[in-house]
Amino acid sequence: MSESTNNIKHIASPLAHQTLLDGELTRPVAGGRPIRLLPWLQVVKIGGRSIMDRGSEAILPIVAEIRSLLPEHRLLILTGAGIRARHLYSVGLDLGLPVGSLAPLAASEAGQNGHILAALLSPDGVSFVEHLTIASQLAIHLAAARAVVGSTFPPYHHHEFPTSRIPTHRADTGAFLLADALGAAGLTIVEDVDGIYSHDPNGAEGDKSTFIPEISAAELAKIEGTLPIDGALVEVMQTARHLEHVQIVNGLVPGRLTAALRGEHVGTIMHTNARNS
Ligand SMILES: Nc1ncnc2c1ncn2[C@@H]1O[C@H](COP(=O)(O)OP(=O)(O)O)[C@@H](O)[C@H]1O
Ligand SMILES: [Mg+2]
Repeated sequence: MSESTNNIKHIASPLAHQTLLDGELTRPVAGGRPIRLLPWLQVVKIGGRSIMDRGSEAILPIVAEIRSLLPEHRLLILTGAGIRARHLYSVGLDLGLPVGSLAPLAASEAGQNGHILAALLSPDGVSFVEHLTIASQLAIHLAAARAVVGSTFPPYHHHEFPTSRIPTHRADTGAFLLADALGAAGLTIVEDVDGIYSHDPNGAEGDKSTFIPEISAAELAKIEGTLPIDGALVEVMQTARHLEHVQIVNGLVPGRLTAALRGEHVGTIMHTNARNS
């Protein structure tokens, strides 16, 4: 036997000798709560269709409100996609492009909206940062500036699940996955409605819509009609690790975002399955 064989180090690992598919076996090692990476961070998702597509009338008041929030909070502002992504989807679908080709096209509009918002906030030290920076250098950027802006689309791109021809993991899902993974203090979704209603308040059945101030992810999953959030968000909220709730607020009403970040109930609060007691 050679010298080197005698010196081989055996590394003990509690997961080495078992399948990762059996939850009962992995739970003692993998069942604990992950640490919070950025527990002081507030994540704010700005709607593409509901806010950015409205132009200056909606964007400038939100920019002014975010500016006034900077001394109080450290923010990751994530922008979604709107009308341009919808046009891209229809052209791409007409050409038969697979969902994995459509996802990055839509994500590129979310990035464009982020660049617009970051440009308006640049006098306050705010910049647009790419996904890789958010993944590995967010802490240092937020040590240098009170806020950064990024695209809220998750970077599944060509790995997008082929469950639908339109990408399933869109803006709200991306914002939630990031905020929960970072162990952020909160996630606020900014829309053009006060929150979730029983029916689309701007749709054909708008006259019978009633406002829902609070709802669990499980109850949300039972709603058959449309929602102002991605269906996939409803699913991922049910396996959340940190974020106990997400609030949807009306960004067209000045002061609602500020109140939500101060912990006030001013929109629809969606409860996840995470328990932080
Ligand atoms: N159940 C519902 N409650 C509230 N809004 C709804 C509902 N269903 C559909 N909506 C519509 O969703 C719109 C927001 O569109 P959405 O695609 O979520 O925008 P964004 O791209 O900004 O997230 C609202 O203006 C509202 O008309
Ligand atoms: Mg929405």
